[in-house]
Amino acid sequence: MAELNLRVRRFDPSVDRGPRIQEYTVPAHDGMTVLDALIYAKDRVDHSLAVRFSCRMASCGSCGMKINGRPRLACESQVSQLGTDLTVEPMDNFPIVRDLVVDLDGFFEKHSMVAPHLSRKNDGREQEAPSGEYLVTPEQLDSFVQFTYCIKCGLCNSSCPTGSTDASFLGPQALTQAYRYVADPRDEAGEERIDLVDETHGIWRCHFAGTCSAVCPKGVDPALGIQLMKRHVMAARSPFRRRKKAGTKLFPNPNGELLKGP
Ligand code: FES
Repeated sequence: MAELNLRVRRFDPSVDRGPRIQEYTVPAHDGMTVLDALIYAKDRVDHSLAVRFSCRMASCGSCGMKINGRPRLACESQVSQLGTDLTVEPMDNFPIVRDLVVDLDGFFEKHSMVAPHLSRKNDGREQEAPSGEYLVTPEQLDSFVQFTYCIKCGLCNSSCPTGSTDASFLGPQALTQAYRYVADPRDEAGEERIDLVDETHGIWRCHFAGTCSAVCPKGVDPALGIQLMKRHVMAARSPFRRRKKAGTKLFPNPNGELLKGP
């Protein structure tokens, strides 16, 4: 059985003066992922190794790290495609909690800032007593559906050159989610989101490097989302602006049939 030379960058800010590389020898097997190798090292060799994971199926977004220099999800990175020499490091652009675990608090704060949910002006009443059904055409869905696939792993932000020099930059993940809701015809909080991203550390700091799109494990294209969001900002600032076409709303008649509303 082949053996892996697993090199892990380790750092505990509470005790270490700087990062160090620790090497582990791990027996490889067919279908082994980098996460499998890390779990082997943690279980069988060194319990102190810190690594975060949950679903093991590229769904929860918690195992993002840098593998052989590239941001990836450890649970979907096949050892057979990477070779027997593996170097694993924490994601760039995030504070390190310990070893491969990074602090995602700031990342989720930025995500929350863009209000990542559908918002109606009469939100409270609509939530309590829905007045009807909001329809989206296939064409409207096409304009934003890929951005709903984000699993919030942070790989895009870790690869972003602007994020590496400006910690306050909103980042590709949050900016893309802002676009996802601005483009959704059911949403009515577009103006607030546009104001939020059109600021010093917002959308104009993106220089379209495209690394975010290159590393996304779900095939999302944040670089595209950001450019489309810029178009919304420019349109909102234009003296010739047009209002967003609202989604068609259906109202039930007394017979329970749905009728098109205004
Ligand atoms: Fe959930 Fe890897 S463990 S995405």
